[in-house]
Amino acid sequence: MSGAGAPDFFYREAQRLGYVARSAFKLLQIQKQYKLITSGSSVLDLGCAPGAWLQVACQSLGPLNKGGVVVGIDVKKVKVPQLHCDSRAQTVCADVMNLPRNRIRALSPQFLESLPRIRLYQSN
Ligand SMILES: C[S@@+](CC[C@H](N)C(=O)[O-])C[C@H]1O[C@@H](n2cnc3c(N)ncnc32)[C@H](O)[C@@H]1O
Repeated sequence: MSGAGAPDFFYREAQRLGYVARSAFKLLQIQKQYKLITSGSSVLDLGCAPGAWLQVACQSLGPLNKGGVVVGIDVKKVKVPQLHCDSRAQTVCADVMNLPRNRIRALSPQFLESLPRIRLYQSN
């Protein structure tokens, strides 16, 4: 919302397009200009609430069958937004400045992305 009380353009656009915050447009612009996230990328979002960047990151991964993973961490509990996100997005409630060493590896996108393959391997 703008300081004057009336919702600003980006606030209204976020509502209209199903983004949980207008910050989505910052990452959309970065993505349009630099294409940081490509098909199948691994993305770690430090301080992810309320999840707008999770939405843009997840939709930037391309088709589900191309893989990729988006992990969001925040001290606040964050529910993965339903719109623009799919099973490749997940969140963790933690203070990124005080993560115990043994949790860091378990939170890495590479490790999380490998889990389905590990499960698949174990089930065969
Ligand atoms: C500006 S918001 C992030 C907005 C988010 N990128 C989005 O677009 O939806 C910054 C977030 O960082 C989180 N944060 C700040 N320090 C943190 C820490 N040490 N560990 C985890 N999260 C932290 C805050 O709780 C806050 O939700």
